[in-house]
Amino acid sequence: MTSWFAPGRINLIGEHTDYNDGFVLPCALAVGCTATVWSVGVGWTGTAEGSDAWTVRSVQQPDPVVVRRSGLDAADMQGVPEWSRYVLGALWLLADRGVDVPPLEVEVDSDVPSGAGLSSSAALVCSVARAVDAHLGLGLDDDALFALTRDVENDAVGAPTGGMDQLVSLRGEAGHALFCDMRSHATRSVPLDLGGSGLAVLVADTRAPHRHSDGEYGARRRGCEEAARRLGVPALRDVSADDLDAALERLDDEELRRYVRHVVTEDDRVLSVVRLLDEGRLADVGPLLTASHRSMRDDFRITVPEVDIAVDALLEAGALGARMTGGGFGGCVIGLVPVASVDAAGDAVRRAFADAGFGEPDLFTAEPSQGAHAVDG
Ligand code: GLA
Repeated sequence: MTSWFAPGRINLIGEHTDYNDGFVLPCALAVGCTATVWSVGVGWTGTAEGSDAWTVRSVQQPDPVVVRRSGLDAADMQGVPEWSRYVLGALWLLADRGVDVPPLEVEVDSDVPSGAGLSSSAALVCSVARAVDAHLGLGLDDDALFALTRDVENDAVGAPTGGMDQLVSLRGEAGHALFCDMRSHATRSVPLDLGGSGLAVLVADTRAPHRHSDGEYGARRRGCEEAARRLGVPALRDVSADDLDAALERLDDEELRRYVRHVVTEDDRVLSVVRLLDEGRLADVGPLLTASHRSMRDDFRITVPEVDIAVDALLEAGALGARMTGGGFGGCVIGLVPVASVDAAGDAVRRAFADAGFGEPDLFTAEPSQGAHAVDG
């Protein structure tokens, strides 16, 4: 039996830049998913030896899912419950790529709230990929694990996401954010000295449901790709902040112009935040976080009233900066808040939600944590 844990994440800054080959700065959370893999005959189902099945179950779901290994294809992946696609998808893609994946039993147990924009799905697929890799002694390297986990989400699950979540779930480091170049997939841990700065990252889960499959995410991605095509560059990462005005003049579609403005300025903000963190100036990143939110709200148009109200409430309560984190259309907001103001800032969000007639938000502080690691069993 082999167990691995992989975390969820928040993104400090760099939203919808990953699939534009740009820059992101997420950090791994303490919450995550633990995947445990057994060979058949010794696991929890009592599956008989000689069975040809992959059996997966989630502690959070009522029923296990059992599939025959042979003859699986992409269409079969769409026929199983969505949570199990992340598990079976990893097994299926490995087998599809020529790895002999024997009958196995896999159990997953997650405490990442699902649908909150904290990458419960990356925690799931990364814990499974690492556990299966270790159990079978495949020796997949960092790049292969990243490619596998991203492909599971894109190809087996069918969500056109950009890879940031899997990268940080695999490679995050405690006390650090992970600066990622999403073209080369090179990563560097950047110190996030919250304690030493007297600051906290307060997370407000608005509980406004957030989904990628709804089409808005894919529409943004296609829009960005179309803008890059019209500008004659491989990806929007190739438009620099200095070239932005000239690029905008060459586009006559107002929506595409807004997308380009968001992505190009957001990449630039990520680089500025990394520079400040490298200089030990965490307290100075606040205005960049807030500018990122305004750009998501006004240009990229991926916010909803719940997240806008949470950001405003955090700023009014003394946050140095605040922004929505993750894919958008709901989910979580983060605020960079002096430790002494954390309770007051949380109360301010709760009050603002009550005044607006929204449901109760969930508030907690984020602890930059270790990426995927083995769990002693
Ligand atoms: C989701 C996706 C990521 C990224 C963010 C937006 O979390 O999974 O790949 O695109 O949205 O930054």
